[in-house]
Amino acid sequence: MVTVIQDVREMQRASGQLRMTGKRLAVVPTMGYLHEGHLSLIRLAKQHADLVITTIFVNPTQFGPGEDFERYPRNLPQDTRLAAEAGTDYIFAPEATSMYPEGYRTYVNVEQFDRMLEGKSRPGHFRGVATVVAKLFATTKPHVAVFGQKDAQQVVVIQQMVRDLNFDIEIVVGPIIREADGLAMSSRNAYLEPDQRKEAVVLYKALQLAQERIQVGQKDAARIIRDMNDLITSRSSGKVDYISIANGRTLEELATCDKQRPLQVSLAVRFGTSRLIDNIFITD
Ligand code: PAJ
Repeated sequence: MVTVIQDVREMQRASGQLRMTGKRLAVVPTMGYLHEGHLSLIRLAKQHADLVITTIFVNPTQFGPGEDFERYPRNLPQDTRLAAEAGTDYIFAPEATSMYPEGYRTYVNVEQFDRMLEGKSRPGHFRGVATVVAKLFATTKPHVAVFGQKDAQQVVVIQQMVRDLNFDIEIVVGPIIREADGLAMSSRNAYLEPDQRKEAVVLYKALQLAQERIQVGQKDAARIIRDMNDLITSRSSGKVDYISIANGRTLEELATCDKQRPLQVSLAVRFGTSRLIDNIFITD
């Protein structure tokens, strides 16, 4: 049985009581419209804790002006059913006014990451993410929190915030779950027109091309990026926002990629009004 809680204080009370009975709590923060990627994190959370709290909240502060906050897909009844099937025990689905009441003023800024990759393309995005995740931690009081590698920079930002603000929470990262053709699962895939959906497989193909090149010892990052860009633009209507080859821990972009490991190859591409991101983490 899954318990749905919408009120911040009620969630805090429930988590506090569960902690006192010695239960290990995991939280899986999401914006809902759950797919197999999210559900895999719920199952992973279950392996790390006695009870799993899935949070569902389309967080307004992480969307910029003109982004897709209003049209972001929402379906709480379906999410509740899917999360319950995957083994969640609690769903925390607050209203925006209870997370950000009148007079709200406090934000968490993880410096520098807001100037690179997703942060550069989406000003204020990580400030909104770090703020809401800190609030979700304070509300659900977890021992462990589970995030997906799909949002690689988000993971790095959260890990930095947890270290810097002394959150006593273990961060667990789950792998990217993909559709059969390789497209990374995303709630935003629902925006794609059928043609765009078919073309979007080129994102993963471009990442695989980079991986092959790097594994056979190609060093020139700019050349690999150029070839990825050519592949995407020749095989799809996608408009490349960025392609990056970076240090997998610091996300600093690299000119040469021979010695550095782990490497993070990431990209953002627009299909019409939809913006998709994907990445591949290279450790060998
Ligand atoms: P959302 O995009 O709903 O993603 C919730 C979690 O699911 C994130 O940790 C994300 O990385 C993970 N996820 C999404 N697609 C995935 C996939 N294909 N495979 C594996 N994991 C995947 O990320 C957010 O929400 C928000 O920024 C949030 C952290 C909830 C703060 O508002």
